[in-house]
Amino acid sequence: RDLFGKQRQNSAGLNLADPLQLQSLQQELEMLAQHRWQAAPLINGQAQSGVKYVSYSPANRKTRLGEVTMADHSAIQAALDSAAAAYGEWRLCPVKKRALYLQQAAELLENHHMELASLCIREGGRSVKDALNEVREAVDFCRYYAAIAEDTFGQPILLPGPAGEQNRLLHYGRGVFACISPWNFPIAIFVGQISAALAAGNTVIAKPAQQTSLTAMFCIQLLHQAGIPTQVLQFLPGEGATIGKILLSDPRIAGVAFTGSTATANLINRQLSSLPAIVALIAETGGQNVMIADSSAHCEQLVQDAIVSAFNSAGQRCSALRVLYLQQDIADKVIAMLTGAMKQLVIGDPNDYAVDIGPVIDQQAVDRLEKHVRARREDAEVLYQINLPACCAAGSFFPPTLIELTSLNQLEEEIFGPILHVIRYREGELQQVIEGVNRCGYGLTLGIQSRIQQTIDRIHRQVKVGNVYVNRNMIGAVVGVQPFGGMGLSGTGPKAGGPSYLQRFSVEQTLTVNS
Ligand code: SER
Repeated sequence: RDLFGKQRQNSAGLNLADPLQLQSLQQELEMLAQHRWQAAPLINGQAQSGVKYVSYSPANRKTRLGEVTMADHSAIQAALDSAAAAYGEWRLCPVKKRALYLQQAAELLENHHMELASLCIREGGRSVKDALNEVREAVDFCRYYAAIAEDTFGQPILLPGPAGEQNRLLHYGRGVFACISPWNFPIAIFVGQISAALAAGNTVIAKPAQQTSLTAMFCIQLLHQAGIPTQVLQFLPGEGATIGKILLSDPRIAGVAFTGSTATANLINRQLSSLPAIVALIAETGGQNVMIADSSAHCEQLVQDAIVSAFNSAGQRCSALRVLYLQQDIADKVIAMLTGAMKQLVIGDPNDYAVDIGPVIDQQAVDRLEKHVRARREDAEVLYQINLPACCAAGSFFPPTLIELTSLNQLEEEIFGPILHVIRYREGELQQVIEGVNRCGYGLTLGIQSRIQQTIDRIHRQVKVGNVYVNRNMIGAVVGVQPFGGMGLSGTGPKAGGPSYLQRFSVEQTLTVNS
């Protein structure tokens, strides 16, 4: 049951433990691999022409996936004109109808999970399991926001007043929302932002990450097919800086939903500050996520949770574990177990169901990670690095790596990839560890591995972190179950997949009528 006492169920997905379902999944994925995809700006549903680039797979730089047409100045202006014009009617569209569109979208996304997963694996480098989970999450977002919109905005909220006076609180969309999404969740976050903005009554201009525009285009086509008016949802693939510059300096933009780096969020914030009105910014950015394990931790579980949290999705989740604090008494044992577990990881072509870790998104990502490891060879100890198999030479792969640091200060910025750092601490130093976590300024996810309730309470009450996970892994927040979002350098705080998320996309009107 959700917050409103209603029965609501998240998408069931596929049962891959069933060999028949797995076999048919692999056959379909093989067939879909032959397909060539196209993406282009969609203005009122019409594809626009312009300069194109070719999209290649990060798993193999020679594999051509399709072509993307980039939005130019006139496409951006047309998107703004149309989205602004459509707002008047969409704002007054009954919440029930908006919710129905999203429910229809959920169904279509579910029915097309094969194409979506195939795109996401080939364009985003996601593993088969990750890709299927993404489709499920996108479906869940649509259904969840549809339900929340009906519950919170469906009826005016009646307020008390003196005799003869009626007071009501009404909710409306803010206006045109720019939804700017990242490449690491090309389906779930892309659809999540859009469905929240639409459910709350905004019109949307969706700007996908350049690396995953083919996947985004297919999602938009399904959303339009679900009945969401094409004027209400515009699509602008292309170069971030060019589109952002025009879009975010236009006074018709009433809100921005952004997921990506803290640096880009700050840039957007500065740009929005030159507009006459104060524009709502919903930003979900990175993390320097820590797990703290004391000597009471169950070591097998701790190792399993740390491996999943650090290396799943090649570490390219904002929620991923970056630094594991180990109490000195268990440190040697856990490091040996971690190294052993890393040797079991299968890296390679993400189309193969047996592969745990696919590529990172592009060569620039590989270069950044290599630079980080080179620098740590100087001031820290690189404990272990997996050897990449030969099949990885054609793509942008980075080997899972374990590094021992002496201090959190050795990490200046978020390391977005499959690198796990460990730091040892002594029993009496827990308070310093907590203070160090808060001092670093990020506050997205945190793991605690301990069997001592007092220690668990002491840590979670003090850390300024949005999502705390105790004695389990710290990734894969589930819609309506673990509302997700951080604070400080990790974002402006709204919780995606949570009951109050849509409020941030809406404005309120108090209507007082004297009869
Ligand atoms: N919501 C994702 C997770 O929890 C990250 O964006 O892993």
